[in-house]
Amino acid sequence: MAETIMDLREVPRPAAYAEIKEQMRLVLDGVDDPIAGMSTLAALLHGTFGFLWVGFYRVAKSGELLRVGPYQGSLGCLEIPFGKGVCGVAAVERRAVIVDDVNLFSGHITCDARARSEIVVPVFGPSGELMGVLDVDSDEKGSFTDDDRAGLEELVQWFRTAA
Ligand code: SME
Repeated sequence: MAETIMDLREVPRPAAYAEIKEQMRLVLDGVDDPIAGMSTLAALLHGTFGFLWVGFYRVAKSGELLRVGPYQGSLGCLEIPFGKGVCGVAAVERRAVIVDDVNLFSGHITCDARARSEIVVPVFGPSGELMGVLDVDSDEKGSFTDDDRAGLEELVQWFRTAA
């Protein structure tokens, strides 16, 4: 396998996410391991868009604690309680959260001081159980729109069906 990750920073997001979905399908053909899925998706998103940090926080204790999973970027915080930070809020509310300016989000957890905006989407497993969240951080304000929410929600469907 010699897949190259394309730089799609200049491509409209819906088309870019469709391309990532296809890459993910090719790379993970026949694989049903969620850690392999998380690692692959983190690498694809990080390489494609050049985001500051892309990675997963997995449910370590249901309803209580998230623990870091596969990621790309600088050193991530290890654990996040449910309800804390953007990740913890997305986990409790089981919905995507977009933060245009992390300085205006009360309780934002700073792992990398360069982070300016952030999107977190929940990741559900085959039975609809919360497996964790996907967190994407940017060093620019207002990097994420509803196109990113839709694109990322579509990509994490992999964990419902393949994992
Ligand atoms: N900013 C996140 C914490 C995780 S890191 O950014 C990698 C939050 O507030 O939940």
